[in-house]
Amino acid sequence: MPKSTRYKPKSKRQTVEGVRTLIPREQIQRRIAEMAQEIRRDFPLEPLHLVGVLKGSIFFLTDLAREISGDVSLDFIAVSSYGDRTHTSGEVKLTRDLDASIEGRTVIVVEDILDTGMTLQYLLRVFEQRKPRRIRVAVLLDKPERRITRVRADYVGFTIPNEFVVGYGLDYAERYRNLADVGVLTLGARVKKT
Ligand code: IMP
Ligand code: MG
Repeated sequence: MPKSTRYKPKSKRQTVEGVRTLIPREQIQRRIAEMAQEIRRDFPLEPLHLVGVLKGSIFFLTDLAREISGDVSLDFIAVSSYGDRTHTSGEVKLTRDLDASIEGRTVIVVEDILDTGMTLQYLLRVFEQRKPRRIRVAVLLDKPERRITRVRADYVGFTIPNEFVVGYGLDYAERYRNLADVGVLTLGARVKKT
């Protein structure tokens, strides 16, 4: 009897990505307005120089900047960390420097999330050598469980559990940055019928 040449595929397992909302947009906006007031209250008379860490901080920075009254200027820096996002190797490299000098200025470093702390530790070292008047750190999210450095933020939007989050600037392989809410990335598996 000849072997059947008909290929009958078995059911294939396929992973399905999803996002479960963790912090809704209204809550993010409310908290950012509060943070802006805290920052201005701490430095009532000083021009504030906001330095955003690309790309994750863009929405946070633009919303925060618009809520801070008085004299505010902006600049951006970009870093890359080696390894994929769930396993940081700890090496950080500067990929785009600031446009302007920070010497003598009051700098607020604006970051999306404080995770292991490697990125901020690196950046603070770089900035301190440039003799700013003072440096403060504002992060939207803080995952303290993951910390392997002694870095801390002066202004924290939300402290979150050790889960991988996306949205409001945060990405998974460059996707999901455009979501208005912050959510937990869920990687489930389902059986796909063929
Ligand atoms: P750290 O150097 O480990 O503190 O990591 C900081 C950077 O890692 C952030 O600026 C993010 O770009 C990225 N990161 C850390 N945790 C997450 C997450 O849960 N979702 C998306 N990106 C993350
Ligand atoms: Mg980032």
